[in-house]
Amino acid sequence: PVSDTILSIADLEEAASKKLGRTAKDFYNSGSTEQVTIRENSTAFSRYRLRPRVLVDVSGVETSTQVFGRTISFPLCVSPAGLQAMAHPDGELATSRACAKRGVNMAISSYSNYSIQAVRSAGIGAGLISHAIQLYTMKDRAMQERIIRTAEAEGCSAIFLTADSPVLGVRYNEWRNDFRTPEGLAYPILEKTTEDIRRQTHDGTFVGFNQDSHSWDREIPWLRSITKMEIWIKGVLTAEDTELAVKHGCDGIIVSNHGGRQLDGVMATLDALPECVEAAQGKTRVHVDGGFRSGTDIFKALALGAECCWVGRPAIWGLAYDGEAGVSLMLETMHNDFRRCMQLTGCQTIGDITKASLARIDSDGR
Ligand code: FNR
Repeated sequence: PVSDTILSIADLEEAASKKLGRTAKDFYNSGSTEQVTIRENSTAFSRYRLRPRVLVDVSGVETSTQVFGRTISFPLCVSPAGLQAMAHPDGELATSRACAKRGVNMAISSYSNYSIQAVRSAGIGAGLISHAIQLYTMKDRAMQERIIRTAEAEGCSAIFLTADSPVLGVRYNEWRNDFRTPEGLAYPILEKTTEDIRRQTHDGTFVGFNQDSHSWDREIPWLRSITKMEIWIKGVLTAEDTELAVKHGCDGIIVSNHGGRQLDGVMATLDALPECVEAAQGKTRVHVDGGFRSGTDIFKALALGAECCWVGRPAIWGLAYDGEAGVSLMLETMHNDFRRCMQLTGCQTIGDITKASLARIDSDGR
């Protein structure tokens, strides 16, 4: 890796994509069907420009903020993304260590290749970290409950209930490449071995697994009755659903479209964010993910009212590029970029980033 110069997340994507085999690269990088939403997640940022204030003392800029009741070093954490050991053998363990060393949090996917305990202890051994456990709404409630009990016993802080996946989105690449989990990898959180998974195509594995008769009333009171962990809903894109999250007493929402991997054609998360922030009225926390590739992107989402941003693919690219060191490089790049953006816009603390920090322009750049 020393011969490459990685200055940006785009550089990291390019370097990582060269290292991944075609099937793995397609699996990680693609969105669903026509790829409209995955593209717009990124292009939405270019409809905003910054309104910098000058001659502000920015020598002591403070990038830290609070997530899950603890201070993190800057407002970026790592989203739950499954199958990280396909990108690097250390997979989620490496991601957990890198997050802990940088002082940010991580959500563990149900499709993690390492157990909750292993991912937790890798992080705790490396620094300060809080974890969320990501859960699908599953048909098998008993298994769901075992996952929750384990996560709570291991000290996870929150549940991310992924609400946008009653059925799987259609990703053509997985069909074309006959995507299957590579030999030797398992899904211990879902109590599945490689053999269990490889016996079926990806679709056969997952159809009938997620709960398509899920509902707010079915899921949230039940979760509340069995856990004290924070409950966050991942995959909210509208004011209406934000209001329901408030009504059901959820601790927070992640404005997310699953990185453009579920329903193609839904709004970019940056565009959905303002209505969700407004509907939340400060009664539930609002975070966001999808397409964040620079510190300026984080800054724009904070100006639109998000408390924290999350990234999926950039962590995978870091892993593929250089394992734990690659994830650390990704986080360092984003942190430095974010700090510099605060300095050059004259913001001393996160609280200084407000609506007044942004101007919206027309989509054609005028
Ligand atoms: C995901 N994502 C995801 N989300 C979730 O709730 N459970 C999961 O198991 C996964 N798995 C997963 C795998 C891969 C390879 C990707 C790329 C994504 C979605 C993820 O949490 C997040 O919402 C997006 O990745 C954010 O968009 P960016 O940062 O990848 O653009």
